[in-house]
Amino acid sequence: MKIMIASSIDKDAIEVLKEHHEVVCAFRDVTEEMLRTLIRDCEVLVFRSGVEISAQLMECAPDLKLLVRAGSGLDNLDFDYVQQRGLKLVRIPQPGARAVMEMAFAFMLALSRRLLEADRSMRESRWAKHELDGHLLLGKTLGIVGVGNIGSCLADMGIAWGMNVIGCVEHSSPERVQMFHEKGVQIVEFDQVLTEADYLSVNVPLKESTRTLIGSAEFARMKPGSYLINLARGGVIDEKALYEALTERGQLRGAALDVHEQEWEGRVSPLARLPNVILTPHIGAMAVDTQREIGRRVVEAVSSFPADTSYKTISGYGVQAFPG
Ligand code: MLT
Repeated sequence: MKIMIASSIDKDAIEVLKEHHEVVCAFRDVTEEMLRTLIRDCEVLVFRSGVEISAQLMECAPDLKLLVRAGSGLDNLDFDYVQQRGLKLVRIPQPGARAVMEMAFAFMLALSRRLLEADRSMRESRWAKHELDGHLLLGKTLGIVGVGNIGSCLADMGIAWGMNVIGCVEHSSPERVQMFHEKGVQIVEFDQVLTEADYLSVNVPLKESTRTLIGSAEFARMKPGSYLINLARGGVIDEKALYEALTERGQLRGAALDVHEQEWEGRVSPLARLPNVILTPHIGAMAVDTQREIGRRVVEAVSSFPADTSYKTISGYGVQAFPG
């Protein structure tokens, strides 16, 4: 088969795919126009975030049959087109959950103990010991907006750290609420999560109902002295409103963002001016172990795809996820 890899994935996985298939790597210095040319006779497309998989792009590939999302988010994919055309889509959300959860903890600890400020003071030869008091996670409320794949992993870790964990979900069932309750996690309304959390972690996909889910009205309702953590998608948070909540209003004590309204080279966010903000370039799932496992599952998805050209399926809502 001819495979286009439109985002950087694990190198070993690319090598294994090359042993059996014709592979086009199109993720460095590739314009949209080049992508449209390169995809022309491809049957498989492998992608991650950062590249727009539009209907126009997929229309350029009449032989396209299989899409492999080497990760979780589908906000960069024209999903209606995929369904309409009956393309098979395989998502691999599970391995990234652990990495994103660990990074959320890294953010919470770094913000609470002001690690970046402490590091900066040392580099400026300042001994700021008595300015840098911090806070424990123990006994604090971790509020999770979206207790799904990543959110539930985070909830388990919050419990292990002695935090009081509350969260909300878009579609709940009494069974799920009970299951979380048994683990010590309370499923409550969004507003309660917002107003009670000391650490508010956003873990929802970006879609119409979650775009700017947290804006000025929501920041105003957050607990004074709380922290915001976003490892989901930039569009879920209104960054201008966040800036105001951190400065003019002083509502929040700090924030850490791995995802941004505008990503890629050449942009410095106004939030970078604030010492109590941590900014990272969408590296939540970039643990080597995680990417290796995702790579292994990409290979598995491609290898198990039937060679039969009449094969055409949409499983569930057009998404097939590998089990954990
Ligand atoms: C994901 O949705 O899996 C993450 O954002 C990682 C990525 O694709 O870069």
